[in-house]
Amino acid sequence: MQTVNALDPLRSALSALRAKGTIALVPTMGALHDGHLTLVRKARARADAVVVSIFVNPLQFGVNEDLDAYPRVLARDSELLAAEGVDVLWAPHVSAMYPEGFATSIRVSGVSEGLCGAARPGHFDGVATVVCKLFNQVAPDMALFGEKDWQQLAVIRRMARDLDLTSPHVARIFGVPIVREEDGLAMSSRNAYLTADERARAVALPEAMRTAIARIEAGEKLAETLAALVQELMQAGFASIDYAQLCDAESLDVLAAPIDRAMRLLVAARLGTTRLIDNMAVGR
Ligand code: PAF
Repeated sequence: MQTVNALDPLRSALSALRAKGTIALVPTMGALHDGHLTLVRKARARADAVVVSIFVNPLQFGVNEDLDAYPRVLARDSELLAAEGVDVLWAPHVSAMYPEGFATSIRVSGVSEGLCGAARPGHFDGVATVVCKLFNQVAPDMALFGEKDWQQLAVIRRMARDLDLTSPHVARIFGVPIVREEDGLAMSSRNAYLTADERARAVALPEAMRTAIARIEAGEKLAETLAALVQELMQAGFASIDYAQLCDAESLDVLAAPIDRAMRLLVAARLGTTRLIDNMAVGR
């Protein structure tokens, strides 16, 4: 595996890879877990070569968020990726990604505004901007993202369609289902922040979501079901619930009642100082 930190060596590495065939890109912020490695394995199965990016993107962190504390374990991540047969690790320095005077931002209205977008103003502008840059830098044939960040995936798909990034380079954007711990908690780099007590309580999130989905699918009233879900999480020790909503799976419009299209239950809740998110399909 070749590790590159600047654009010129990235371009040389990519032209060698392109001669081999198709390239899949897996964008990450590092602190890799099995969820990321699943993305890498799927990428390897779909493409001739795999590029993984590791970049803790300052643009997507708010002023009071955990940019400085975000886990950075490049040596360990690099070993994991080499063992998975990744061809290129693109780990740019901040100055390579955002050179002095960088002044451009991509804003995807609509789909990025509610849910996490409402709780984290500017977050998805930062995500869209860096992902657009990664697509331009790597020019992959496909890119893979985890469905754990369902809203992020919707924002990226919208951006790629709107800016014609889907052709010819990013021909396909694949969402890969959430990888869960044995007890059902969705894998996340932020789970590392949980104390042992919080980690034990965290399982209430997927459990309460499954209960709510069973109630929605049984035709119980949506508002009451969502209120019960919030109540259950507070009783389990969550400090606050940012949102618990049933949404149209694609537009992310918040629903007042179930519809006859793909739906998703999305929840963000704080346990101690850690913000956990999760989402699950409803109805199909
Ligand atoms: O999901 C992530 O790890 C990040 O938001 C991404 C897509 C790599 C952009 O920084």
